[in-house]
Amino acid sequence: MTTTSNGVIELTKHREDYLAEHAVSGLKALGFYLHIPFCVRKCNYCDFVSFPGQGQDIIDSYVDRLCGDIGAAGKQYGKDYHVDTFFLGGGTPSLLTPAQLGRVLKAVNEAFLCGCEFAAQCGAGLGKCDGLEVTLESNPGTFDKDKLREYISLGINRLSMGVQSLDDGVLKRLGRIHDSEMALKAMRTAKALDLNYNVDLMLGIPGQTLAIWEDTLKRVLAEEPKHVSFYSLQLEMGTPFYRDFKDGRLTLPEWSENRAMYHRTLEILREAGYKHYEISNAALPGYECKHNLKYWTMQDYLGLGMAAHSFLGGRRCFTTSDLKEYLAGHAVPEWEETDEYSLKTDFVFTELRLIDGFSKQTYQTMFGSDFEDDFAPAYQKLLKEGLMEEQNGFVRLTASGLDQTNPVMEALLNV
Ligand SMILES: C[S@@+](CC[C@H](N)C(=O)[O-])C[C@H]1O[C@@H](n2cnc3c(N)ncnc32)[C@H](O)[C@@H]1O
Ligand code: SF4
Repeated sequence: MTTTSNGVIELTKHREDYLAEHAVSGLKALGFYLHIPFCVRKCNYCDFVSFPGQGQDIIDSYVDRLCGDIGAAGKQYGKDYHVDTFFLGGGTPSLLTPAQLGRVLKAVNEAFLCGCEFAAQCGAGLGKCDGLEVTLESNPGTFDKDKLREYISLGINRLSMGVQSLDDGVLKRLGRIHDSEMALKAMRTAKALDLNYNVDLMLGIPGQTLAIWEDTLKRVLAEEPKHVSFYSLQLEMGTPFYRDFKDGRLTLPEWSENRAMYHRTLEILREAGYKHYEISNAALPGYECKHNLKYWTMQDYLGLGMAAHSFLGGRRCFTTSDLKEYLAGHAVPEWEETDEYSLKTDFVFTELRLIDGFSKQTYQTMFGSDFEDDFAPAYQKLLKEGLMEEQNGFVRLTASGLDQTNPVMEALLNV
């Protein structure tokens, strides 16, 4: 790509052209993320921005502030975009009462046209459009059938549930607020209400053997979730797990055992009819998470609430992680300077998470240059080492590349 004095503008224009091609009725599609930073208790491994044990008054104030931000965003972006995926993440959004959730969703519905690509023609709206994906993240210890029924009536049509494990010893070690029985009950409740649901699981946990993991996965699949996420435990700085590991009080399964769990996961999921479509995600055909796919394919998304990230028109933005600052209304979204290089590496890193990888043609269309040229010689080296491969114009990680994502990404960064 020729870098001119206005290189970034040229790059953004390529991207805008690409997105415009996919827009219907002149409105571009937007993924909408709302961060709900509250949990009953902090789990021993988690460093997501969330605050345990907050009272209803704080949560109410947060919802007030959020609704204000949604209205302001609608004035700024509502004329250009329609919302076609919506994700309430956390923290634990299922801590919201139906009344609080209702206020948030009403604010979005008033500020933005919500619905699939035909929303402009039919008027659609939250709860009325089947093409609109509305996900709420939940903890099994925080809802029952009545609450879920009310959520559904407000427009929630996908539930993501943090089950993590069905082994009570493992759940205790993780510091979860629920046991395996509550997790099973939560899955059955969602199923009884015919709700599309995802189950989050974690592997590579202290004290978890391959047999324990396999038992969890098989029992979860028996409940027929449409989607399964299987995250390998990351030791995050500042968490009790991190401290205990450093002090020698916590032992992780060997890396070979971690990988055995991962490989067995892929076999079991395949046999059960799930498609492995992202490093840590699999779904029954047609049930891939549309919202998360926007992150992995660099589509536009707007994140509101504290500690939320946005990617709009080729630029990234984030908001404060300070609850007091946010509640006081002092949170000013901070826009990051993006340059050609960072957008290209972001594209490659996020799209390589997808099992099908990315099309070299899409890269060319978005950036006006060739992937092989931009990432030579690292790409050729990774091809030779069998960590990446190319097929029908698509570039992707091989099976051994999926086991060694860090070295692959480091090699691509050092071009
Ligand atoms: C925001 S939480 C999900 C919802 C809810 N708060 C819960 O935990 O039940 C998102 C998911 O990230 C995963 N996760 C969190 N911390 C992790 C870590 N350190 N390593 C791997 N996965 C992690 C868990 O599977 C968790 O369910
Ligand atoms: S894993 Fe979920 S419930 Fe546990 S602290 Fe993190 S966000 Fe909260």
